[in-house]
Amino acid sequence: MYLVAPAPARQAGLLGRHFLKVSDFSSGELAAVLRLARFLKARPSAEQRALLRGRTVALLFEKPSLRTRVSFEVAAAQLGAETLFAHGSEFMVGARESPEDAARVLSRYVDAVVVRTHEHEPLERFAAAATVPVLNGLSAQAHPCQALADVLTVAERFGEIAGLRIAYLGDARNNVAASLAEAAVMLGATVHFGCPPSHRPSESFLEQLTHLGRVSDGSARAFSNPVRAVRGVDAVYTDVWTSMGEERYRELNEALLRPYAVTEELMAYAAPHAIFLHCLPAHRGEEVSADVIDSPRSAVFDQAENRMHAQKALLVSLLTECKGFPV
Ligand code: CP
Ligand code: NVA
Repeated sequence: MYLVAPAPARQAGLLGRHFLKVSDFSSGELAAVLRLARFLKARPSAEQRALLRGRTVALLFEKPSLRTRVSFEVAAAQLGAETLFAHGSEFMVGARESPEDAARVLSRYVDAVVVRTHEHEPLERFAAAATVPVLNGLSAQAHPCQALADVLTVAERFGEIAGLRIAYLGDARNNVAASLAEAAVMLGATVHFGCPPSHRPSESFLEQLTHLGRVSDGSARAFSNPVRAVRGVDAVYTDVWTSMGEERYRELNEALLRPYAVTEELMAYAAPHAIFLHCLPAHRGEEVSADVIDSPRSAVFDQAENRMHAQKALLVSLLTECKGFPV
């Protein structure tokens, strides 16, 4: 029996590419990966074990992880690939040797490398020297694998992303906000950032989003009033107020971001059908109240599950020609 991936992924030409930020892909390529994710999610995983048989995926993480590590390990296992994991005590990009040398060495051993780093720039140097696909498993600047799962979840709930309005409340300069916004505008959604001026995305990033949304009719706008950001939207997203590596700003963030906490009162301004999204881990009573994240409107565990399906599609797209696969 053969499992045949849908044709659009094959046309996308993603074989051998890196995925450091969502906009490394075109809108069409992003849509193709999402179609493949939905296809694979709907098929029994037992049919997929030959897709990456004999391949090895390295996971090199400088920072803690539950979802990213486990969802990649399970995704790879269900596709028949081996994984190996090294944590920060054994691996830091650029610590024992240059990012370029580490990338050249690892490219001789494994078929793909998933890296979770602090700074984004050494990851770019690592990827530029690697001869196998490098996937960003979270850097200070971007969390593109999370964004794939986010838009997959929204697409499952609403059928289409184009034309939807998504509000992101809190630290709108962080990795999750940046990648979500790129994916959403590339697929034709309108993104409302609700944040104080201190946590507003840079003007240059807002301009990039305008550019990315030009073809799909997506757009992004920042509001300092949380109610204006949320009014009438289809989805409300938040993330921790203080990202990993930024702990020195914790008290300041708490003081500045408190008005942007997602509570039932704030959710009442969103559309009646609006869903709540969070990449997790979450802090109930800080960026989100328990009555929102634990309510029927919350899609956070679908998002977490979709990490695995989206990353399966990503691995298959980057490591194969998506032709017919023996299973
Ligand atoms: N959402 C996410 O990336 O979770 P982890 O930090 O647990 O991987
Ligand atoms: N913005 C958060 C996301 C964690 C998944 C962080 O970088 O810590």
